[in-house]
Amino acid sequence: MYDGLQKEISTYEKRTPKSAAAHKRALERIPLGVASNYRHYEPYPIFVKDGKAGRIHDIDGNEYVDHNLCFGALMAGHCHPAVVKAVKEQLDLGTTFGMPHDQEWELAEEICKRYPVEMVRFGSSGTEVTMHACRIARAATGRDKIVKFEGSYHGLHDTALVSVKPKETEYGDENAPNSVPGGGGVPKAAVDNVLIASFNNLGSVENRFKQYPGQIAAIILEPILMNVGLCIPQPGFLEGLRKICDANGALLIFDEVKTGAKLAWGGASDYFGVKPDMICLAKSIGGGLPLGAFGASRKVMNLISDHKVFHGGTYNTNRVAMAAGLATFREVLTRDAYAHVGKLSKKLTEGYRTIVAKNGLRAYVASAGVNGALMLYPQEIRNYRDWTKIDVDLWRHYWFGMVNRGVLAQPYWWDEQWTISVQHTEADIDKHLAAFEEVAPGLAKAQSERGMVTAAAGH
Ligand SMILES: Cc1ncc(COP(=O)(O)O)c(C=O)c1O
Repeated sequence: MYDGLQKEISTYEKRTPKSAAAHKRALERIPLGVASNYRHYEPYPIFVKDGKAGRIHDIDGNEYVDHNLCFGALMAGHCHPAVVKAVKEQLDLGTTFGMPHDQEWELAEEICKRYPVEMVRFGSSGTEVTMHACRIARAATGRDKIVKFEGSYHGLHDTALVSVKPKETEYGDENAPNSVPGGGGVPKAAVDNVLIASFNNLGSVENRFKQYPGQIAAIILEPILMNVGLCIPQPGFLEGLRKICDANGALLIFDEVKTGAKLAWGGASDYFGVKPDMICLAKSIGGGLPLGAFGASRKVMNLISDHKVFHGGTYNTNRVAMAAGLATFREVLTRDAYAHVGKLSKKLTEGYRTIVAKNGLRAYVASAGVNGALMLYPQEIRNYRDWTKIDVDLWRHYWFGMVNRGVLAQPYWWDEQWTISVQHTEADIDKHLAAFEEVAPGLAKAQSERGMVTAAAGH
């Protein structure tokens, strides 16, 4: 570990002794001391006390401008008054019944207004809704195989946990990447039914359809690949996927768990003008409560109505999550709110770009909607393999440096990105940029001393 990074980690340890102790205690009973592997990192994660609007406090009493926002699930920001009010009112009226109610129809209407779908079903997480979307696509086509992109993340079910972070030795040909299980316990049969293509490489997708004619049910993708920082589709890529699906009778599934709320009012299909067959939503649509949804045309969703595909869930449409979801759609994610966050996003992105240029940092700043990331690589990445070349220690230097100056610039892990909430203010963005202004010269110095260092992938 080089000096500049070591110094920032030592400062982190001095600022957060209570988090260190809490983590040590948690390790006794909880694997890695955390409830989701993504929350674990060395030397130990920050333990949080509370949050309000765009800021949080840790248990050592440090305050942070929060651009982690629960891995992008809180475009509403912490404790949004409209969400809090809706949830509090609902708590006195009952939390969950396992019976139908009017909020279901109301929220389905809100979703069909914004996204190009005609019918909707609900769940509680992104994993759940992408799992159901893949199953419905299989039932709709009578085919088993799903195409997904190398390095993409769609949750934790067997179809999704393939080639999420493959190692270089496992890659295979870029035009026909290997299907690599994302950990133990993913059955070989599941892996065999997931065909991998390279993002921004239509040829690799066409190959799959040529190799497996009449066997591919769907292509699933994030319209912007957000499991590698932030990777924008090249012009024509999404349109090309649409054409390939149409030509081959396969469904196009947009996993809009991140982009659905955070890219634009109407999500990625609106932003890019490409209409998928199915949309998966979660994270920020719930205003901080666990809420997911998937939708499609009446024809596709009728597979559920006709009892051909089974969908259920005890906690589906529990009243608390639905109250939060309705408040979020109606009072938080308004067109005015998108104008507000758009300004903040521009200010943050342009501020970063100025600082990157001033310090001669070999990096660029990617941005889309309320998401963005400092990409520590000299040119725009086009796919997962490009992303693996970023300098991980330099990224850690950046992240700990920002944390030590009171800014959670994004979730820990260099495959993530920042989120701006509707409750962030100009002052929050100023603080974020002031911290980066302080950290950037050390990054530039380290970069010139170290030269180009290539990362090892993986969590
Ligand atoms: C694009 C995408 N799809 C699906 C998921 C899974 O969502 P969840 O963690 O709610 O299961 C995530 C989570 O980060 C995601 O980013």
